[in-house]
Amino acid sequence: MTTKAPVITIDGPSGSGKGTIAKLVADKLGYSLLDSGALYRLTALAALDAEVDLADEKRVAEIAANLDIRFAIAGGEVSAVLAGKDVSRDIRMERVSMAASKVAALPAVREALLQRQRDFRELPGLVADGRDMGTTVFPDAPVKVFLTASAEERARRRFDQLQGRGVSVSLRDLLEDIRARDDRDMNRATSPLAPAEDAVVLDSTDIDIEGVLQQVLELVQERIS
Ligand code: C5P
Repeated sequence: MTTKAPVITIDGPSGSGKGTIAKLVADKLGYSLLDSGALYRLTALAALDAEVDLADEKRVAEIAANLDIRFAIAGGEVSAVLAGKDVSRDIRMERVSMAASKVAALPAVREALLQRQRDFRELPGLVADGRDMGTTVFPDAPVKVFLTASAEERARRRFDQLQGRGVSVSLRDLLEDIRARDDRDMNRATSPLAPAEDAVVLDSTDIDIEGVLQQVLELVQERIS
């Protein structure tokens, strides 16, 4: 039997900081990184471009199964390349976020993306960020983290981020959006957002990024020799 590369799963709701933490942990350990949300976003973008009805489960799943994607790393930044085109900015657009959360609720789409996600596992190890990394995709991962923060704190962080970019938004609208996405993620039938039984739940409401990073690295030291 071949030795499987260790996986560190970081799951949690939108805005919990899991993407930032996953990137820092992967950099620190020299591991590969899987941003599973990007796969749902790429599926959504490809379906929108092909003008496929997002409720047509069979066709959207076919798109997911045949995605021509590549993640390129340059200057420490990861870009998403769809059919040879850099779509890193396009997949963050609001209409794609909405479409991603719709296609993510389709069981056939989740099934089509399962093996693609597992294919990211390689030595020396993988950090996988998403909603169901510890429960469904990598149930045998030695380190599982569920990163959360209060909805108010997550909305405030997003507010600061957007204000910093000169975008004017209402904190109340952001809080409503976050609550709606939490609700959709936690209440879907297939792979709903929930901590794995053996996950360590970290609440980042009152801890900064450095503090969370420290706790994750301590877990890695305990569990991955
Ligand atoms: O993490 P991110 O916001 O980029 O994810 C985009 C969408 O994909 C989310 O709406 C989420 O519901 C879905 N998703 C998922 N399972 C994952 C990762 C993301 O359902 N493992």
